Amino acid sequence: MSILVLPGDGIGPEVTAQAVKALRSVAANGPQFEMAEAAIGDAGLHQAGDPLPEATLEAARRADAILFGAAGTYESDLLPPEKRGGHGLLRLRKALDLFANFRPVYAFPELIGASTLRREVIEGVDLVVLRELTGDIYFGTPRGVERDASGQRIGTNTMRYTEGEIRRVAHAGFRAARQRRHKLCSVDKANVLETMALWREVVTEVGRDYPDVELTHLYVDAASMHLIRRPRDFDVIVTGNIFGDILSDAAAMLTGSIGMLPSASLGEGGRGLYEPVHGSAPDIAGQDKANPLASILSAAMMLRHSLGQEEAARAVEAAVREVLAEGYRTPDIMEPGARSVGTEAMGDAVAAA
Ligand code: NAI
Ligand code: MG
Repeated sequence: MSILVLPGDGIGPEVTAQAVKALRSVAANGPQFEMAEAAIGDAGLHQAGDPLPEATLEAARRADAILFGAAGTYESDLLPPEKRGGHGLLRLRKALDLFANFRPVYAFPELIGASTLRREVIEGVDLVVLRELTGDIYFGTPRGVERDASGQRIGTNTMRYTEGEIRRVAHAGFRAARQRRHKLCSVDKANVLETMALWREVVTEVGRDYPDVELTHLYVDAASMHLIRRPRDFDVIVTGNIFGDILSDAAAMLTGSIGMLPSASLGEGGRGLYEPVHGSAPDIAGQDKANPLASILSAAMMLRHSLGQEEAARAVEAAVREVLAEGYRTPDIMEPGARSVGTEAMGDAVAAA
């Protein structure tokens, strides 16, 4: 089994190093993997003049699974796409056709006190946001900034989905719901956007194949409210690329911190890309402050979904629970009386557990 590690930028390398430690600890107890590392993001730009160097893409195509950190910085975000670190990740997801991005949102009982939300709202929260990842306004054309006849600049992006793209992610949503509590909520903006009217129609059609799954629909604005007000009612949420991006950051706060949210990006085959939901966090990079648990939990998802190592996945998840129960806390989830640790020490504690 081969794992390609893409640390990327900012806190990416810091948190990914902790996930690699956890994987080494797992390997010491059984499953063997080969791990190789490659450059992506601003790091790819510096090393090879491209946020997704050709060698990185080739290595990604050969690997069984990819563990990714974060790509991009505020500086490169403002450059044209070919010089933008974050664009390397978008291109990688697209090149590997990783269209289904699963973002589990689980309120760890040990962390309820660290959330800014009320205990009675978040206790028992266990949902998955399934974000479509290779279509929508992120990729639709026409796009760009031009000038009209009067010389005024116009920025354009296009929200675009084919019915095939909607259908395959809808199937993924229904299948996921079947393995959980049999509830799927599709989130769109069908009242205003043609693309989303088609979304609702196709999801409804696909739903006929899954009579055992309860399908509901919400507009994204209302969904963002319900997600905060009654998060326990949700099981699987399926939505488009941009709505999923925004809703899952909001949902992160149900867990206490975005530093707790892992994700898996899957295609039709077994290969997947696993990454924390957060970005490169330039505000805390290089300070040993980042929470590595999202990255470590992403490695657990990788063991489960791409490497067929369910037992090892559970061991990693149990280790995370254990260190939380022992009171280890990075600053983002700090509570009075807990044991304040940095990125490295948290990683060491999980690897030891
Ligand atoms: P961000 O997720 O990097 O940070 C948002 C806030 O959450 C910051 O205050 C940060 O300190 C905090 N945070 C994030 N991860 C944390 C962790 N593990 N532990 C503790 N605190 C954490 O989002 P932001 O600031 O919007 O973007 C920063 C850069 O990352 C930008 O250049 C952006 O383009 C890029 N980005 C990359 C992503 C990716 O590679 N998948 C996803 C989102 C943003
Ligand atoms: Mg985001």
